[in-house]
Amino acid sequence: MSFSKKYYTSFWIILLFFISGCNLQSAHKRYLIGFSQCVESDAWRKTMLEEMKRELSFHPEAKLIYRQADGNSQKQIDQVKELLSQRVDILIISPNEADPLTPIVEEAFNTGTPVIVVDRKISSTLFTAYVGGDNYQIGKMAGEYAASLLKGKGNIIEITGLPKSTPAIERDSGFVDAFKNYPGLRIVKKVNGEWYKQKAKEELSKIVDSYPDVNLVFAHNDMMAYSAYEVYKSKGSPKPQIIGVDGLPCNGCGMQFVSDKLITATMLYPTGGEEAIRIALQILNKENFKKDNILKTTVLDSTNVRIMQLQATKVMSQQQSIERQKEMLEEQGRIYRNQRTFLYIVVSILVLALFLGGITFYSLRENRKINKKLQLQNLEISDQKNQLEEMSAKAQAANEAKVAFFTNISHEFRTPLTLILGPLEELLLNNKNQYNQIQNLNLIHKNVIRLLRLINQLMDFRKIEVDKMRLRASENDIVAFVSDILQSYKSIAQKRNIDLRMFTNERKLDVWFDVNMLDKVIFNLLSNAFKFTKDNGYIHVYVNKSENGREAIIKVEDNGIGMSENVVKSAFDLFFQGEYDNYKGSGLGLALSKDLIKLHKGSITVVSEKWKGTTFEIHLSLGNGHLEKEDMTEIEVVPSVLYEDEKVYTLDLGAEQVVKNEIEGIKKNKEYSILIIEDNAELRSFLKNKLQSEYEILEAENGQSALQEAFNTVPDLIICDVVIPGKDGLTLVNIIKTDIRTSHIPIILLTGQTNIEHQIEGMKTMADVYITKPFNVQFLEHTIKSLLSNRAMLKEHFTSELPANLKTQTLGKLDKKFVSEFTSLVESNLSNEEFSVEDICRSVGVSRVQLYRKVKALLNLNVNDYILNTRLQKAKYLLQHEELSISEIAYKVGFSSPAYFSTVFKSKFGVTPKAFKER
Ligand code: FRU
Repeated sequence: MSFSKKYYTSFWIILLFFISGCNLQSAHKRYLIGFSQCVESDAWRKTMLEEMKRELSFHPEAKLIYRQADGNSQKQIDQVKELLSQRVDILIISPNEADPLTPIVEEAFNTGTPVIVVDRKISSTLFTAYVGGDNYQIGKMAGEYAASLLKGKGNIIEITGLPKSTPAIERDSGFVDAFKNYPGLRIVKKVNGEWYKQKAKEELSKIVDSYPDVNLVFAHNDMMAYSAYEVYKSKGSPKPQIIGVDGLPCNGCGMQFVSDKLITATMLYPTGGEEAIRIALQILNKENFKKDNILKTTVLDSTNVRIMQLQATKVMSQQQSIERQKEMLEEQGRIYRNQRTFLYIVVSILVLALFLGGITFYSLRENRKINKKLQLQNLEISDQKNQLEEMSAKAQAANEAKVAFFTNISHEFRTPLTLILGPLEELLLNNKNQYNQIQNLNLIHKNVIRLLRLINQLMDFRKIEVDKMRLRASENDIVAFVSDILQSYKSIAQKRNIDLRMFTNERKLDVWFDVNMLDKVIFNLLSNAFKFTKDNGYIHVYVNKSENGREAIIKVEDNGIGMSENVVKSAFDLFFQGEYDNYKGSGLGLALSKDLIKLHKGSITVVSEKWKGTTFEIHLSLGNGHLEKEDMTEIEVVPSVLYEDEKVYTLDLGAEQVVKNEIEGIKKNKEYSILIIEDNAELRSFLKNKLQSEYEILEAENGQSALQEAFNTVPDLIICDVVIPGKDGLTLVNIIKTDIRTSHIPIILLTGQTNIEHQIEGMKTMADVYITKPFNVQFLEHTIKSLLSNRAMLKEHFTSELPANLKTQTLGKLDKKFVSEFTSLVESNLSNEEFSVEDICRSVGVSRVQLYRKVKALLNLNVNDYILNTRLQKAKYLLQHEELSISEIAYKVGFSSPAYFSTVFKSKFGVTPKAFKER
């Protein structure tokens, strides 16, 4: 995709460049030539412009901007300024008059614009080139021609051009100079025709009568010469010889006047338009050029006018042919350009086709590659699929085998459990049992029943799973059925003061259901309700018809601890265990209930709010239209069927039978106290029963009360479950072990988790021993003994020497700190007879009881005994090493009377201080 995109883009860029390149070749005008003409009304000026244009047509790189001033010098100055402002590359000018136009031409030249002056001149040499005829020569040529015509004698009238234009000045000057050698010739009158036909006619008409014997008229151009012809013709007087200037070959121009004998002769005066353009391009192209370009001239009269006309016609026809050829050339050029453009397009399309072909080829190749890859992947996938299928078949078989084994073994469990149950119940009935034996037997009985229930539920599940559990529905009165089940819970409700009642609007409500299935569901819902409802709460059961009369609705409502939203969502999930550690079930009961109701094509839902209560609602369709034929049976309900479920579901719901302390034979004054922290009342009670004969037992069922008990009583040992409500066991151990008041107490952690990481975690929090459930009671007793005796040995060790020499490596950091703080306090206060236990409590930050307990636990000493002992040891040392009197020593070790000191010393060491010192 990215490949083609990239290549398409570059292709279009190349194509655009290519096409735009073609267009660029169609000549961009490089040069701007400004041409300022003084006047354009006459044929001579028109010819000049045509010549320029013709020449320019061979130079497409140059463009002409043309302005003409109608013979007005000021207008011409303005036009030149405008051309310069357009930044022309070169200026061609034919100035109307010399002086007025000189400054602007100089300015253009000085500011770097090349200037070509044509025909008329300016009054300065500050221009780049001049193109035009030699007007002085023309004047002189005309003079000499007149002299030969008149044979050196005659009167002449001169019609001049604009007096301030250089051709007029120069022609006059040449004409006058030619007469110097002919004294018989005389210019009788000069008339100013300003170069215009009409003006010349008017001026000549004014004076013509005053000069009757004129032999020749010299007009500065052919148009004014023709005016002279007209004036003399209209007068009817004899026509003088007339000479003009220009000799243009066109109709109504000089050459025709001569050939028609209207005038005698004309001085050929070329326009120089062609030359002006050629020189301009030489300058612009920085080629060599001549500054003064004087055009050739000659006399045209009756002797040569024919030839000249023929030549002119020839030239004109050649020019026309050139024009035509040029047009053809242009046409060819156009065709060529069109064809070239066409070629470009064809080439572009070809390139595009090649390009697309390339892409197609590339895409095809890529496609083939991808296809191959896909085929390989397909093969791989189908291989994997096969493998997976094989594996899943194997897994299914393995699972089947596992489940079958599991079902079989569950089934196998039932027999021994039933065999245990029978004799057990017999034993329970035996009155000769001792109290604690009854307790144990009850415990066994309850747990056997629990196991039975679990196994039954598991087997039911298995049956549903393999589709073997079929509904055997019969029509029964559901009101009586539910009421019967409720009876099984009456005594438990009474014991726990739970308001258990059934409400119904129906005397009898016949429903098609499987009694052996529905009883499990109702028993399970009621058992749950009893489990989660506190003593003195209520459990209400409603059995009614739905409003539309099509369903029976059984509602079990309690005001127990309820469930949070999340728990409600998963309540019917298999193996879901809820949120309360101490109420955790197997996660089987509700899942099984749901499946059983599903077999009835009914529904079971739950609504619950935490700490408010829970309501389960079962909907069963009335009639049997919704059931298959094979789901129904005519067999009547066997009442004994209910018995097993009753026992299985209700037996472990009774009020906890906690062993009372007033049991006979339990010693009150025991050496060590043990705090049991366990939320399971049965296990707690079991442990208490086992241990209370030897130890003083303290109990706590949650984290908060455990901590309170630990700080208040400072027990000798703590047994703690890892999972307890409030605070978890590990946090609890951490708190106990880092508090100065309790840090010395050995702790046994009990847990159901065998995971080694948990053990390490437990150890990290400084638990002394970690025992996993189920545990052996003797092992536990043994562990307790060994922990306590270790502690005792440690104390022995401490007290065998002076406290200052304590080897405290075996103690925890906190205990070491405590011992050293305590001993140094006593040491430094030996001579202070006021020093008391309260002082120590204040300094160390513990209560009097805690201090006594701690010192007893760590050093096996009474605090007062310890202080006294230290004083006596110090006294002993002083008696041995210092030269002090007995009384001095007595005061030094904090005795107020030396006599009392002696008494105490003797009772401790068997000798009086005096005798000891002498020894
Ligand atoms: C045309 C013209 C010509 C003459 C020239 C002199 O305008 O009058 O007839 O030769 O100008 O500048």
